[in-house]
Amino acid sequence: MTTPTIELKPSSNPLSDAEREAILASPGFGRHFTDHMVTIKWTEGRGWHDAELVPYAPLSIDPANMTLHYAQTIFEGLKAYRQPDGTVATFRPEANAARFQASARRMAMPELPVELFIEACDALIKQDRAWVPDSGEASLYLRPFMFASEVGLGVRPANEFLFIVIASPAGAYFPGGVKPVSVWLSEDYVRAVKGGTGAAKTGGNYAASLVAQAQAASHGCDQVVWLDAVEHRWIEEMGGMNLYFVYGDRIVTPELTGSLLPGITRDSLLTIARDLGYTAEEGRLTTEDWQRDNANGTLTEVFACGTAAVITPVGSVKSEGANWIQGDGEPGSVTMRLRKALLELQTGQAADTHGWMHPL
Ligand code: PLP
Ligand code: COI
Repeated sequence: MTTPTIELKPSSNPLSDAEREAILASPGFGRHFTDHMVTIKWTEGRGWHDAELVPYAPLSIDPANMTLHYAQTIFEGLKAYRQPDGTVATFRPEANAARFQASARRMAMPELPVELFIEACDALIKQDRAWVPDSGEASLYLRPFMFASEVGLGVRPANEFLFIVIASPAGAYFPGGVKPVSVWLSEDYVRAVKGGTGAAKTGGNYAASLVAQAQAASHGCDQVVWLDAVEHRWIEEMGGMNLYFVYGDRIVTPELTGSLLPGITRDSLLTIARDLGYTAEEGRLTTEDWQRDNANGTLTEVFACGTAAVITPVGSVKSEGANWIQGDGEPGSVTMRLRKALLELQTGQAADTHGWMHPL
């Protein structure tokens, strides 16, 4: 089966410069979308076909569309950043493409070739490059996703899928800037178990997380921290971010047990931290370790990391039986140093020594 080329069918009616500029002045996260999208179909026996770049528009969905009932759907998240010379580059898109394939395998979906994933993102960014914000931390967030497009109620892998890429200008994920978040340790609910779908970026994981997120909010917390599903004590990750624990010059992130998402920011930070002279490790940590090491002062900082949220300090922790301020409750120096290094790399202000940037 051959890889299709993307046919351009540009919008005859894009948003005006003034309307776009008004949105870019305060984009928020995931609220506004650019003028176009890429769509590629997959059909059993035919493979990938009908790759098109078309005006952004609603889809027409049959009430018996399989995804609406059985959630055979996956997604990715990556960002395009304006570089100092005015060009645009994405960060590690081949890593997102590889994770998209891994998610597809877990969800019994067809694997999109890595080159086609990247080509689709590139085509959309090139067409809508005026939507890439010019300054600072702002970026264009790309949301590639795929879902079963077959109609029917039989429970089995669909024989038709639709892959789409949309893009949304992004300011800070947490309004209010780099402000430490408060977290709730979820003991009532679990996110994922070994053998389940926790390592896949599939919609159901997020649907299942919402009640715990609401519980966190009812306890005055910003985010949920997920614990392992068996002993309810090993720290896994947050709702849309991985976690790092800073012990002076040593940083530790929960190891990939199969039930947490292998974050690309998490992976990048293992390398960036070592470049900066820190010891960076994958390990296992319990909630008891967290509380004790914070109290005895060895655990100096905790932060969360992910594409949407970059690096966000954790300022306080709550559970049914405990409640503590992390460190002094303020963003720590290691957290902020790593955050700066990552953003400088992504925005082209630091040398790309690992070949992670993908210029367009
Ligand atoms: N964990 C979850 C559940 C996520 O949704 C995300 C976001 O993609 C992450 C972690 C961080 O992953 P990445 O750094 O690849 O964005
Ligand atoms: C991301 O960081 O890309 C995420 O997927 C987090 C969230 C918006 C689901």
